Amino acid sequence: MSATPTTYSFGMIGLGTMGRNLLLNLADHDFAVAGYDKDASKLSLLSEEGAGLPVRGFAELSDFVQSLQTPRSIMLLVPAGKIVDSVIEELRPLLAAGDIIIDGGNSHFTDTDRRAAALEAAGLHFFGMGISGGEEGARFGPSMMPGGDQQAYQVMKPMFEAIAAQVGGEPCVTYIGPGAAGHFVKMVHNGIEYGLMQLIAETYGVLKQGLGLDNDAIGQVFTQWNAGRLQSFLLDITKDIFAFRAPGTDHLLLDDIRDEARSKGTGKWTSQVAMDLEVPLSTIDTAVALRNLSKYKALREKLAAQYSTMPQPLATNQEAFLAQLEEAFYFSMVITYAQGMHLLSKASEEYGYALQLAGIARIWRGGCIIRSGFLNDIYNAYQQTPELEHLLLDEPVAKLVQQAVPGARTVVAGAITAGLAVPAYAACLSYFDSFRTARLPSNLIQAQRDFFGAHTYELIGKEGLFHTQWTPEHEDAANKQDIHVGEENKQERQVQPNQ
Ligand code: 6PG
Repeated sequence: MSATPTTYSFGMIGLGTMGRNLLLNLADHDFAVAGYDKDASKLSLLSEEGAGLPVRGFAELSDFVQSLQTPRSIMLLVPAGKIVDSVIEELRPLLAAGDIIIDGGNSHFTDTDRRAAALEAAGLHFFGMGISGGEEGARFGPSMMPGGDQQAYQVMKPMFEAIAAQVGGEPCVTYIGPGAAGHFVKMVHNGIEYGLMQLIAETYGVLKQGLGLDNDAIGQVFTQWNAGRLQSFLLDITKDIFAFRAPGTDHLLLDDIRDEARSKGTGKWTSQVAMDLEVPLSTIDTAVALRNLSKYKALREKLAAQYSTMPQPLATNQEAFLAQLEEAFYFSMVITYAQGMHLLSKASEEYGYALQLAGIARIWRGGCIIRSGFLNDIYNAYQQTPELEHLLLDEPVAKLVQQAVPGARTVVAGAITAGLAVPAYAACLSYFDSFRTARLPSNLIQAQRDFFGAHTYELIGKEGLFHTQWTPEHEDAANKQDIHVGEENKQERQVQPNQ
């Protein structure tokens, strides 16, 4: 297509895998689009793959900007962090008030808040949009999570709805909420992704080391699971991985891959934010920790040599155990999504995002990495009760969990007895068992804190904060118990007798 100034209705900065494929997706839908990248090889890939489509690449930023219809709509798909800031810096003098910048990368939500404020002050519209689906999704239909400037989103809406994945005739994109809500929700999506991936990896370990299945048999288990209620994108690609031979060999490529998992940080951010908001997220925390643990290969080898034990049989009845493993996976998958949804609901209150959890579940049903059949159940739960405090309170979900929990217990107990690591499975079960415990042993922690640090405790059926002198030797303990600490004095930790 020949380029004349102000020809293109949308521009993309960053023509890596995601940027290029998203641009081609737009061009497929008859939007005339322009791309910019400093890397000449990426520009030639764009012109090769975009042959015959209304798409053009530019090597000069100013030419690219001038080629766009005003007000301009420009998406950045560059690595998160400082690069986003430097691209915005370069771009800003070339733009005019009213232009729209969309950050489509995995930016940290606090960066998005900062950038939105700075660009808004300069008269530009900015919104952060999480995009999920990898290469395939970007090219043929991703799930998109836009948040921030709603006016700008309305301008972009027809384009995004056209290129998004479609489920039941509905596009997998919706306005998420104000501020950095879009990037926040994408971050939590990735946290769930980490949890599910860790569970699948542990399942592989159980099948291989615990049951002694070969790769073909493991592939069959994943294939069967994916044909049933566990259907998901991640199981789907896993079954394909178990059929993929290393080129020119008859063994799986998987067997040649080092067992050290890398990450770009979104899972860690999810756990960090959850800690800040005091939301328990133990499965996702475990998944992050296990990626870190996996990187200590040399240390693991030393410890393996030091502590290796004879493997114990995991199950005598393989068929029955496989059925229990399916239940255990189902249960743990539910818990992983439930943790993510819980974080979203707490963050929504804390940051004023007013998140519609049903809408989020709806747009996660297609296009994204965590899409699965179970997202329909999550969607139904929040559709039925938008203010649902926790997914495990939803009755249909609770029924499914009750049915699956015995399998989870058998698998976790069996693996632990056999000395097989199942940290994410165990984290899911402990999370569930802790949350369904009306009276936890946490009263003891409060007693200990008050004992060694006078940190005070609260009493059942009595308002206020209390401190006790726990050691009898230097005080008359009987007279010092149950001392009320006034709220106003809490900071100074001065104790005031209650009565
Ligand atoms: C997606 C993915 C994607 C993410 C990769 C790699 O939704 O398309 O979440 O955004 O960057 O999965 O993440 P890690 O490198 O952290 O594993």
